[in-house]
Amino acid sequence: PPTVFSGIQPTGIPHIGNYLGAIKNWVHMQNTHQRVLFCIVDLHSVTLPQNPNALRQSIFDTAACLLACGIDPDKAILFQQSDVPQHSELCWAFTCLTTLPRIQSLPQWKEKSEKYAKDINVGLMTYPILQAADILLYKGTEVPVGEDQIPHVELAQDLARIFNYRFGEFFPKASAVIPKSARIKSLRTPTSKMSKSEIDVKSRIDLTDSPEVIRGKIKKAVTDFTPEIFYDPDNRPGISNLMDIHAAFTGLSSDEITEQNKLKNTVGYKSEVADIVTQYLTPIREKVLRLREQPEYVQQILDRGAERAGDIAQENWMQIRKLMGFK
Ligand code: TYM
Repeated sequence: PPTVFSGIQPTGIPHIGNYLGAIKNWVHMQNTHQRVLFCIVDLHSVTLPQNPNALRQSIFDTAACLLACGIDPDKAILFQQSDVPQHSELCWAFTCLTTLPRIQSLPQWKEKSEKYAKDINVGLMTYPILQAADILLYKGTEVPVGEDQIPHVELAQDLARIFNYRFGEFFPKASAVIPKSARIKSLRTPTSKMSKSEIDVKSRIDLTDSPEVIRGKIKKAVTDFTPEIFYDPDNRPGISNLMDIHAAFTGLSSDEITEQNKLKNTVGYKSEVADIVTQYLTPIREKVLRLREQPEYVQQILDRGAERAGDIAQENWMQIRKLMGFK
């Protein structure tokens, strides 16, 4: 059956890039598909050092944010990756089907191996293989993600093909599902993507930011010296990013936004964007704050999700073991 699968790393609070690039689509697809799984990928997050207490908190916060955004545990299986051991097991099998050059060709590997040089751990290299295992363990066919994840979904396609060729037809083709707002940029360096790992917290808007914090971050967003508001992502990445955010939250086109704001200057326009973002995020933030008062409720949802995901994983993993000759 068509199966929706996607994941998010529990490293702090999800930001509007995560929301507009992925989570918004997740909420939509849980209504259009029968089998839907969303995974908090804690195993992926430890490819970079994590403080255990902070990690525990991030797993909770990520689950709370997903629920606050509208993920419905009756429609989607929401679970934590390390609760289902078969992710790691299938990852191992796939590791043995992946060539070193295939991994070295991935843009994120190139970026990270340059950044960390000899200190890079092998987990960062295996990272995209684990991601392929996540998707294929459930025979995922649709993977709603932001643009940065496309090369990883392509690796999952390759691994499915390689496995099927070697051991017999088993895995379906997994396709990335990419929204229009597939790449929200940093508010500080609008040429690179908004990211949880950027040190400057003013570069991103977290889903739980207060109205004052949102206003302050947008006010300080890097733009240029042209006061007029018009869309030109190549020459005016800063203002165009704000317009992308505006468009994504309202459903307006960049032409409509230009038309509506032609009498405003940058300061006035920023204030307008801050209002829109605040209006959208306020109910989400309030829901997260309420869920923080009910940690057992959130835990219950993750536990039930792990059980349901575990049943599917177990069934598929048994068949994979047979195909590979382990059984
Ligand atoms: P992660 O945790 O970095 O991001 C979660 C989702 O948010 C999207 N995203 C963005 N979209 C638009 N603009 C941005 N600035 C932006 N930043 C992040 C990401 O594309 C992603 O969809 N490797 C994955 C997690 C993962 C996964 C999986 C995803 C592990 N296993 C299996 C899909 C299927 C990651 O690090 O996402």
